[in-house]
Amino acid sequence: MSLEDLLQNNAKWSEEIRASDPEFFEILARQQAPEYLWIGCADSRVPANEIVGLKPGEIFVHRNVANLVLQTDFNCLSVVQYAVDVLHVKHIILTGHYGCGGVKAALQKSELGLIDNWLYAIRMIIEKHRDFLDTIKDETAKLDVLCELNVIEQVHQLCSNSLLKSAWQRGQNLKVHGCVYGLNQGILHDLKATTSSHQEIETSYQSALKFLKERDPSHRF
Ligand code: CO
Repeated sequence: MSLEDLLQNNAKWSEEIRASDPEFFEILARQQAPEYLWIGCADSRVPANEIVGLKPGEIFVHRNVANLVLQTDFNCLSVVQYAVDVLHVKHIILTGHYGCGGVKAALQKSELGLIDNWLYAIRMIIEKHRDFLDTIKDETAKLDVLCELNVIEQVHQLCSNSLLKSAWQRGQNLKVHGCVYGLNQGILHDLKATTSSHQEIETSYQSALKFLKERDPSHRF
């Protein structure tokens, strides 16, 4: 498809929405008040709005390769800060997906260039959980478990950031969730890592790891 085709698609989409709700774009252009921030993988198969059935204006989105929240990433942290402090989102949904190419590259130690530096964070997670990962012999199962572990670690990282600590201290109603998306079925699963206060960070992290380790690695969701 050429750009011309995409522009035609866009015109049709806009027309359809305005036909069912003539003021939709006018109202939306005045303000956005999303309740959700989605932090997900840049993978083209994991589009935030479609998966959770939300319209424009309903979900604030940040995506990068392998859905990482690095304490040195001003791009991601600026999105989080704006979403939390200005938009006052009520939920942050950190979503990974099975078969993630970024996670796979880190696991296989493939050399892909600049992106290896980005994926270094996942190599650290592999080291941290090496004993557990070594118990999983099947490579596909190991990758899928690592995709889940990565989400749980990113939720932990995000919750430990001072931006969230301040929000919770102010008494802001904010929950952070960890989910994983299955490309085969198109289903989003809760990894039971939900954290709703600074005090809950460690217990939520430990209970999410327990929930993960108790399940059969060869039968993910
Ligand atoms: Co991915």
